[in-house]
Amino acid sequence: MPDIDKQEQGQEQNQGPDFTPEMNPPVREEAPSRAETIRKGPIRRFLDTPADNTAKTVTVALLLCLVASMVVSAAAVSLRPLQEKNAALDKQVNIVQVAGLYEDGVDVAEVFRSFEPHVLELATGAFTDRFDPYQFDDRAAAEDMTLSAPLDDDPAGIRRQAEYVTVYLLRDESGALDKVILPVYGYGLWSTLYGFIAVEEDGNTIYGLQFYEHAETPGLGAEVDNPRWKALWRDKKLRDGEGNLAITVAKTPPPAGRDHFVDALSGATLTSRGVDNLVRFWMSERGFEPFLERVRAGEL
Ligand SMILES: Cc1cc2nc3c(=O)[nH]c(=O)nc-3n(C[C@H](O)[C@H](O)[C@H](O)COP(=O)(O)O)c2cc1C
Repeated sequence: MPDIDKQEQGQEQNQGPDFTPEMNPPVREEAPSRAETIRKGPIRRFLDTPADNTAKTVTVALLLCLVASMVVSAAAVSLRPLQEKNAALDKQVNIVQVAGLYEDGVDVAEVFRSFEPHVLELATGAFTDRFDPYQFDDRAAAEDMTLSAPLDDDPAGIRRQAEYVTVYLLRDESGALDKVILPVYGYGLWSTLYGFIAVEEDGNTIYGLQFYEHAETPGLGAEVDNPRWKALWRDKKLRDGEGNLAITVAKTPPPAGRDHFVDALSGATLTSRGVDNLVRFWMSERGFEPFLERVRAGEL
């Protein structure tokens, strides 16, 4: 009798539908025990977090930013001396070029040693030994409140003008003055153009003009770097027979004549106007004229 009861019970239990895998209830993943979680450690637990977890995404992004900024900062700091060295070398190349001494393969540092740097007091046109010309930083001086003055009338668009600048003298074998290399800069259309103008020993004839830094548009304002345009400056005269500043960059020659005329760049009238303004400013009484007077007088 007890066996019959068991059979009946078994029949009752098997009365439901047949078993299929689909009907198997989902196996519930058991949450890791607290002991397991502690044993994993914070990094392991972080890595085990699902990839679409917002906190994980934000943390990874922040870590990436941090690492990238550290790499960029380290590169910037470690490369700075190299950048400064290259900037100094580039300036030397430009001084050598504007003086017409550059040739392919030339040892620029060696040629540059033939130039005499001096720190010039613009107002008097005299050299000063207040600063070491090998250390003097013209750009920093132009920003220094104690070494520069604001400009009310500012045709070159430079806002402040330094009292002192570095100029370079080039002498021939006999020691006589051959050229003076003068730094000039001013605003074009998009940027401040920095360059050098080389003036012959007569203090009036331009040997060359060359910019070493600007951000004018390639093919338009950046044509200031075009050798054909730069060649237009050779032998132009700063001042006319009466001593008036006459050099002009324009579309048509000035009344003083072609000796003082550099044709403006076509399609880049605004950059050309900037160059006209900056050259005329730096060659004026407010710029290098006191010094050029001394050059013309043969004092150097
Ligand atoms: C994208 C763009 C970039 C330009 N860049 C310069 C530039 O660097 N220097 C410049 O003088 N003019 C530049 N121009 C042209 C000036 O806007 C202006 O048209 C020109 O200076 C007039 O010169 P033109 O009288 O010889 O034609 C640029 C124009 C455009 C649309």
